[in-house]
Amino acid sequence: MAYSDKVVDHYENPRNVGSFAADDASVATGMVGAPACGDVMKLQIKVDPSTGVIEDARFKTYGCGSAIASSSLVTEWVKGKTLEQALAIKNTAIAEELALPPVKIHCSILAEDAIKAAVADYRQRHAGPGGLIEEKACAPSKPADHHSEAA
Ligand code: FES
Repeated sequence: MAYSDKVVDHYENPRNVGSFAADDASVATGMVGAPACGDVMKLQIKVDPSTGVIEDARFKTYGCGSAIASSSLVTEWVKGKTLEQALAIKNTAIAEELALPPVKIHCSILAEDAIKAAVADYRQRHAGPGGLIEEKACAPSKPADHHSEAA
């Protein structure tokens, strides 16, 4: 199969390959797999908690050239975007940018799913509107009036 020049470029010079430190609270991870081919994509985003803007991104992809190119591309596209803006990135835009043939469309879907998974992971771990850390919202909880009876 002939890859487009852009796929070859990302494949040969992948942008932002790697991982962030696992204990960094501003980092969220999206890990997705394509059952049809077994390819796996891990996308990490580093989010500025005060603005909700993605400052940086990393990926690791075990998969075909199109999957690697798609994930490399989205690490560039999500940078500087809010979580909402990142969620608006569609696989069709990725496929168009990389000129993916129809049999490789699912590789771009994997990249869109990886963004969604990373944003969901961030929001799950950082409660509050827009996924931002709302430290002030963490009012001390009232003592429970029905403590465990097991004691
Ligand atoms: Fe499955 Fe590319 S062939 S992700």
